[in-house]
Amino acid sequence: MHIHVYEKTILGLTLVILVAALGAIGGSVFAGHAHLPGPVMRVDPRTVAQTPPFDAPGVQQLGPNHYLVVMTAQAWSFNPTEVTVPAGSMVTFQIASVDVTHGFLIEDTNVNLTLIPGYVSAATTTFSTPGTYLIVCHEYCGLGHQAMYGRVVVQ
Ligand code: CUA
Repeated sequence: MHIHVYEKTILGLTLVILVAALGAIGGSVFAGHAHLPGPVMRVDPRTVAQTPPFDAPGVQQLGPNHYLVVMTAQAWSFNPTEVTVPAGSMVTFQIASVDVTHGFLIEDTNVNLTLIPGYVSAATTTFSTPGTYLIVCHEYCGLGHQAMYGRVVVQ
């Protein structure tokens, strides 16, 4: 079978691009440890409020510049609604839903989680610029969904 030289060139280029793209994905997963944000542990949604650390939601200091923010999500609010962290700090969020599926997106950051009842979702980010960052629920969770938001105050 005769294949035109242009067709061979395009096929060759396609193969090169495909191998390069697969290599980039493989490299970021295995060498760069890139992964989708996912559930870190399970929790009974009926007893979240009595289960540590969700029995005392809020901000805890983990290290010199590392903070843990523990939150619960319920229709239609986050608890606590507002947290304050120092500028330049690394902040790990651990959030669990006590009722239905909610979303957790912090504007201008890489934090974007889905909160599935029964699972704890976590993400870590660094807030280098002081300001107020809006947290929004981005999964439709009922009549008050559009009013479900919170704030991270970075000082
Ligand atoms: Cu919670 Cu939408």
